[in-house]
Amino acid sequence: LREARDLAAAAKDLDSLHEAIRTFEGCELRKSASNTVIFRGSKDPRVMLIGEAPGRDEDIQGEPFVGAAGRMLDTMLTSAGIAIEEVYITNILFWRPPGNRTPDTREIGLCLPFVERQIELIRPDLLLMIGNVSVKTLLGTTQGITRLRGKWFSYQHDGLTAPIPAIASLHPAYLLRQPAQKRHAWRDMLAFRAALRGEQPP
Ligand code: URA
Repeated sequence: LREARDLAAAAKDLDSLHEAIRTFEGCELRKSASNTVIFRGSKDPRVMLIGEAPGRDEDIQGEPFVGAAGRMLDTMLTSAGIAIEEVYITNILFWRPPGNRTPDTREIGLCLPFVERQIELIRPDLLLMIGNVSVKTLLGTTQGITRLRGKWFSYQHDGLTAPIPAIASLHPAYLLRQPAQKRHAWRDMLAFRAALRGEQPP
């Protein structure tokens, strides 16, 4: 069994990396999943959006953020004037955890080399980290999303030559349960749009 880190490092372009993820046998979540869910949007984007894990709809359709949460995310992006074709949308996990439970640190660790390699190969100008799992994993922090949202961070890992500005925001699945929080997420989205367009932040 080849390690995720070796497989990820050996992938010299995005298509080979996607193939390496699809054939990776090291994560047991794939046994209960119907699909490997990797990305949706542009393969040559300026920005990457990173969520948590596929849910039921994503597992069935094989693409990230295509259920109710995904529809809300798309509406927020397009309402902010960001086209889906400008963004690479992915998750920390490529397989659905059974019953949508929160992924554990081992499962996250197994997928992380592939997440990092996607970031290296795409070299986005900006990252949007969606929800607790994404923010905690990418920033290596234990602080929760309600404290971190709306703030800009400098994302870095060993294989990156330069840090990437990254902003954290609330997960649309959470917004579906707590609609009053949408105004915070909207403010974050406008800050993200402003950074992407080189505009004055709102
Ligand atoms: N939630 C996520 O974090 N990602 C998806 O792809 C779908 C729901």
